[in-house]
Amino acid sequence: MPYYPDRINEHFLNPRNVGEAREANAVGQAGSLTCGAILRLSLKIDARQQRITEAKFKTVGCGVLIASASVLTETIQEMAISRAATLGESAITDWFEDLPPDKKHCPALCREALLAALMNYHNAKREEWAGDEALICTCFCVSEKTIEQVIEARSLHTIEQVTRACHAGGGCQSCHPLIMDILDDYWRTVEAQSMHLETGKS
Ligand code: FES
Repeated sequence: MPYYPDRINEHFLNPRNVGEAREANAVGQAGSLTCGAILRLSLKIDARQQRITEAKFKTVGCGVLIASASVLTETIQEMAISRAATLGESAITDWFEDLPPDKKHCPALCREALLAALMNYHNAKREEWAGDEALICTCFCVSEKTIEQVIEARSLHTIEQVTRACHAGGGCQSCHPLIMDILDDYWRTVEAQSMHLETGKS
């Protein structure tokens, strides 16, 4: 049996949350070309509470990946999806304390699979959305109109500024291309209007 530090060994030998979440509505996968490992994460997300109610995994990988996925799925149970989207690899590495240096990619794979699952969930939600205004950031429930308003009111130019102003984009980041499009559209319109005014004066 491979030797791992105690905290890793405990999760490796008794992995929690192995399998498929019942009625999973968010699934993400990640794989490593270096070691050939594959991880599949399935989540049941309560859409009303925006919270993960069940997290399960399946993997073909080493003991550290099994233990990392076990810790991750325990950590994110009952967690708000906006918080889960901002979880770093340190949520796992800090827990293990003494992760072998050649196994640092295992927590990274877990984070990748989590982000993939959340992105798939958010993309599906955007497609289903039937509100009057387009929903851009499903992590923080921010509409296109709100984003346009903060850009105009505060003369914002970057996604980071938009996130600081209204939280949009501060979670899984799947909405970043959409926020960028809104910024580009806004500033293109402003530029076109000012050129129009200049032409009118001359
Ligand atoms: S949809 Fe996740 S940060 Fe916007």
